[in-house]
Amino acid sequence: MVKTSKISGFYKMSIAERLKIIKEQAELTDDEVSVLSSSGALSLDAADRMIENVIGTTEYPLGVACNFLIDGKEYLIPMALEEPSVVAAASNMAKLARIKGGFFTSATEPIMIGQIQIADVESPYFAKQAIISRKKEIIDLANEQDPMLVKFGGGARDITVRVLDSICGPMVIVHLMVDCRDAMGANAVNTMAEACAPLIEEISGGKALSRIISNLAKFRLARARAVFDKEALGGEEVVDRIIMEYAFSLSDPYRCSTHNKGIMNGIDAVVVATMNDFRAVEAGAHSYAAMNGEYKPLTRWEKNKDGDLCGTIELPIAVGTVGGATSVHPVAKVVRKILDVKTASELSRVMAALGLAQNLAPLKAFATEGIQKGHMKLHAKNIAQMAGAEGEMIDKVVEVLVREKNVRVDRAKEVLSELCG
Ligand code: MEV
Repeated sequence: MVKTSKISGFYKMSIAERLKIIKEQAELTDDEVSVLSSSGALSLDAADRMIENVIGTTEYPLGVACNFLIDGKEYLIPMALEEPSVVAAASNMAKLARIKGGFFTSATEPIMIGQIQIADVESPYFAKQAIISRKKEIIDLANEQDPMLVKFGGGARDITVRVLDSICGPMVIVHLMVDCRDAMGANAVNTMAEACAPLIEEISGGKALSRIISNLAKFRLARARAVFDKEALGGEEVVDRIIMEYAFSLSDPYRCSTHNKGIMNGIDAVVVATMNDFRAVEAGAHSYAAMNGEYKPLTRWEKNKDGDLCGTIELPIAVGTVGGATSVHPVAKVVRKILDVKTASELSRVMAALGLAQNLAPLKAFATEGIQKGHMKLHAKNIAQMAGAEGEMIDKVVEVLVREKNVRVDRAKEVLSELCG
């Protein structure tokens, strides 16, 4: 059999037909095929309606972060991710936050930006004013595209127009500001941007090119703050060290990247568990972090007059509680029930609080014992399983690996065979 990825009509085939081809191409065993197709909560048929060329489903572990008191409400936060220690770290920091009342949050209105790029404009500044003078017409046209969104209190609100200097000369860029309410909004915004483009072309005399949502959702911000008791953190010296670590992130993009990655460990895990678009949230977070031309941390850490640690976070979080996979995926629906959030805004605020907690965990660890100690046991569990340990053997192998401070697969295999006699 010749190996090829050019498979004509793959998208039209049944899942079984696709699997047969993939089985041949990748030389999968029957067992491997059944791993792919033994569907969990998401049926293969449902999956087949969600994306193209489906051959199976995949699963993440779903954990629950505990101890979150946010704006006086108790939250259990389901998190879907593959990385050990993350859920435990968030739960531990949330427990510390409770001493000073937990997390307090806010969010701006759920406004997303739809961009319409107009090229080949003869007099861009004249066109800019002409477009602004027809603002009402453009907004009305946008709102005609989504009467449901308008009915629920959302819809296009405003436009702004810029003349952008580019390597291809000046371009006119129209931003359509859309209140997306409880939807993430990409579909609504993209439909509106496409529908308004011909009118804007007519007004400007130019040619519409990109007509798409911007993931730099700088008008859809979620914020959270919390005070962490200095004694609970390990003393004022630990607070000072944490602020020094934050200072490192502020001044150094290499460290800042990892600092923000830690924040997104938490946020993404809820975005995935609720079946929201994690790529959109990631793009928004990192572009917001670089908004002012330099890449900066999404959190800030300071000390108050009592010597306690004050943390704040602010970032765009474009997530929905209606529409798309959030309303279709059976696990996402149960996750929402556990989360008990009523609106997309509330969901984004919970995510912000989680992001703040998640960020503090490694900072506290760096200031004290380092992250590897806590991480090792969980890591060792994975290694033990990779070495073939099952059931109660896993903990036995873990115990030896951690005691020896030698968490490697080859050693795990040796330990396993010693234990099995
Ligand atoms: C690992 O997934 C995340 C951390 O690297 C974050 C950080 O360094 O702040 C521990």
